[in-house]
Amino acid sequence: MLLLLLIFLLVFYSDLARSSQLRSEFKHKNIFILAGQSNMAGRGGVIDEKWDGIIPSECQSNSLVLRLNARTNWEEAREPLHADIDVTKACGIGPGMAFANSVREIEPRIGTIGLVPCAIGGTNISEWHRGMSLYNNLVNRAKAALIQGGTIRAILWYQGESDTISQADAESYGLNLKNFMLDLRADLQSPMLPIIQIWEVGVSSQSIRAVDPDHALEIGVLHNSRLNGLHWHLDKEHS
Ligand SMILES: *[C@@H]1O[C@H](CO)[C@@H](O)[C@H](O)[C@H]1NC(C)=O
Repeated sequence: MLLLLLIFLLVFYSDLARSSQLRSEFKHKNIFILAGQSNMAGRGGVIDEKWDGIIPSECQSNSLVLRLNARTNWEEAREPLHADIDVTKACGIGPGMAFANSVREIEPRIGTIGLVPCAIGGTNISEWHRGMSLYNNLVNRAKAALIQGGTIRAILWYQGESDTISQADAESYGLNLKNFMLDLRADLQSPMLPIIQIWEVGVSSQSIRAVDPDHALEIGVLHNSRLNGLHWHLDKEHS
């Protein structure tokens, strides 16, 4: 009887310790906002408007990578990350999950990662201006993500293709992007918030070169972002 009680207590306390450790990791979660257009929302494995359901090994789910769903509840992150966000198109694999898993691989003690998907396919930079619904939605979701604790570590931004159609849009992209980033940092009260920009390299078409965000780099938006002991060197070739 005594032995049973002892076993029970042992199991009970180890469970309790585990769940309080999980709770504290949850409270201290590292939040990353995912924003932009279809490249971020994820179209990997989508053929004829249907996702093939294949999840590459680097995009697998695990209990320490969470996702803020459309109802602003945290749940275990699972591909496609934007399925309930970019709802008018078929979503597939995007960069968010692979990013989270590689951060955990580089820094295993980082604890819980919370991803906040906000990307919508086909959108241009004007639609992300302060005051527009995409911008407001991003800010609201970022704030909702903080309610139960955690720190926003960075915004991952993958957008620009929609602004390559006209020369004028491409030329004003740098300034629009800079304003977007500065407004976002102000509205999230995080003046040094790292913004990690993903863009295609090696494409030599004129319009795409025109939106190459050199302007953003010049204002020091992203270069050597330093995140909680992680040193990420983001350069032209390896972003
Ligand atoms: C951006 O997209 C919106 C919605 O499709 C459109 O109304 C607007 O004209 C576009 N703006 C630019 C500058 O292309």
